[in-house]
Amino acid sequence: MIRSNPKGLRNGSITPRASGLSYEADLSLKRLAPRLQAFWDAHDADEELRHEFGLRLADHWEELFALLFELYGTRYDFFFHLEQILLTAAAAWLDRPEPLRELDRHRINEPDWFTSEKIVGGALYVDLFSENLGKLTESIDYFKELGLTYLHLMPLFAVRPGDNDGGYAISNYRSVDPRLGTIEDLRNLASELRKAGIVLVLDFVFNHTSDDHEWAKHAQSGDPEYQNFYYIYPNRELPDQYERTLREIFPTVRRGNFTWHDGMQSWVWTTFNSFQWDLNYSNPAVFRAMLEEMFFISSTGIDILRLDAVAFVWKQMGTNCENLPQAHTLIQAFSRLARIATPSLLFKSEAIVHPDDVVKYVSPEECQISYNPTLMALLWESLATRETRLLCRSLSHRHKLPPHTAWVNYLRCHDDIGWTFDDADAAALGINAYDHRQFLNLFYTGQFKGSFARGVPFQENVQTGDMRIAGTLASLAGLEHAIEVGDEHEKEMSIRRMLLLQGISLSIGGIPLLYLGEEWGMLNDYDFVKDPAKAGDTRWVHRPKMQWEFLHELDDKIASGDGSIRTRIFRSQQKLIATRKSLPALAGQNMELVATGNVHLLSFIRIHESHRLIVIANFSDQPQSVDGNRLRTVGLGRFFQDALTDREFGTSADIVLEAYETLWLLRV
Ligand code: GLC
Ligand code: GLC
Repeated sequence: MIRSNPKGLRNGSITPRASGLSYEADLSLKRLAPRLQAFWDAHDADEELRHEFGLRLADHWEELFALLFELYGTRYDFFFHLEQILLTAAAAWLDRPEPLRELDRHRINEPDWFTSEKIVGGALYVDLFSENLGKLTESIDYFKELGLTYLHLMPLFAVRPGDNDGGYAISNYRSVDPRLGTIEDLRNLASELRKAGIVLVLDFVFNHTSDDHEWAKHAQSGDPEYQNFYYIYPNRELPDQYERTLREIFPTVRRGNFTWHDGMQSWVWTTFNSFQWDLNYSNPAVFRAMLEEMFFISSTGIDILRLDAVAFVWKQMGTNCENLPQAHTLIQAFSRLARIATPSLLFKSEAIVHPDDVVKYVSPEECQISYNPTLMALLWESLATRETRLLCRSLSHRHKLPPHTAWVNYLRCHDDIGWTFDDADAAALGINAYDHRQFLNLFYTGQFKGSFARGVPFQENVQTGDMRIAGTLASLAGLEHAIEVGDEHEKEMSIRRMLLLQGISLSIGGIPLLYLGEEWGMLNDYDFVKDPAKAGDTRWVHRPKMQWEFLHELDDKIASGDGSIRTRIFRSQQKLIATRKSLPALAGQNMELVATGNVHLLSFIRIHESHRLIVIANFSDQPQSVDGNRLRTVGLGRFFQDALTDREFGTSADIVLEAYETLWLLRV
């Protein structure tokens, strides 16, 4: 007996007991038990494996049932889909390679492994970094030398011909893009990385498929079952109604969110590029089908899935169709199923939206880790203004996360920078958010007088004046400009800016994530315009091909000019990473701001168990000082040593930081 109306049953924190579905969940499981038994028998499943699965099912079933019931409980065929979903999970556990099951058993007892100070991440495109997956295996020593223990490979599955949005237009989740290798190569790489102590992260691009995915092709040939996998409309009536409340994500690609398909004589929902068709998750068949793809991907040896474009996965008329409560329910349902079938697998959310919304995806039951776009944008904001007021304000009430979760802190990634800070945070400091974003856009496109940055506009919206910024870390931090004008002082300043930002990303709490190439200070690559499949998307400017010649400069004792810059950036980056990994105070998420009374400084204290570390960073191009007394009070000591340079500081006098200097202070 279903007692309540599914609508409004849950809103995130309500437990299944509170939702009153405990009886229905139990009864459904009892009814499904013989089906599960038959499945195990048909596959001659090992008793121990059945038992382990059963224990986890018992732990998570009620919650899973409530989540699925909220999404699909009113469907005539709910019970059918429930059964399919359960059997899909059972099959995933049964087919899971034994080394991964070992990892599952291990991590169940060590759920916070990813919050360790030893975790340091890097992200790369396989072809741009090293041609293909086989070749990439040869770079494992390089990752180790740099200190990486987490590797995110940008999408590497089969894609449509031509423009494929950097791999995000997937035509088959079960085969690797032949230019990059095979599924076997991927499995092999994953296993080599595991041996080297490096966890592997891949995208789960689940908001949309490419227009040439098998499902989309069935839809195009008129199969209604597959047309229901997407949002397809015969005329403008519904699209027009939706458009009233939707934002445009890629306004230079196409106006609006729908694309006309000649063959079907219909409009298709396409939030991103016109060839990326949004999946219709109000259809439980889509949920189950993508669940299977998720299990397949993770079975290749993936530790963490990056959930792409999470904000957009649920649509509802009259809303902006971003960050809807059902999007959370949906991700939580995927997450519960991972707990049951692939328990070591974690989720990382990619929600590049308002900070209030970003944080809602982060919880042990949803995404355990998340990009930290607010910190990223505000670090760049502070670098432009030389002041940390907005950064500190935001950090003061936005850095905390629930226990057993972590931020992924980054400076640059394969995407653009959007100024997603909160307008009210800005207003509280007397900053007009609209004007400030205009300033930041001018600054980072090098149009503001005195700007050191060389960025490029991305998705400039002529109607709203909105734009985002593309560019590499080094080009945005001033190295490109400094080399252009041949100014030694400016080169020095740009290197310090890069290290300043890295020093914070590596110490503020969470997993630091480098976009590989950063460790060399790689500059913008304007040649992308020569490739027609890339020319229309300026994000390619900051996705340069790795230039391995740089590595040889390391051994070059007489390296000079540009060469020595590269070596210095690499060595400094390496040192920062090694130092982070030696400091237990940098584990976990705990971070308290330290008031310095100086608007150019950012200071915080990291405390983990009995370990403490104080970080002070100077965002000004002039020396800045902080009162030693403050340090003494916060750091509970009279003498401190900088873990990066071993320099000692007494607290009886002011502590002076050079332009863009960062100190990691330990009590001595
Ligand atoms: C994510 C990706 C981005 C891509 C978009 C559509 O935001 O990071 O690169 O364009 O999703 O898949
Ligand atoms: C995601 C983000 C958006 C980003 C885009 C890709 O949709 O929300 O900010 O720009 O992907 O660039």
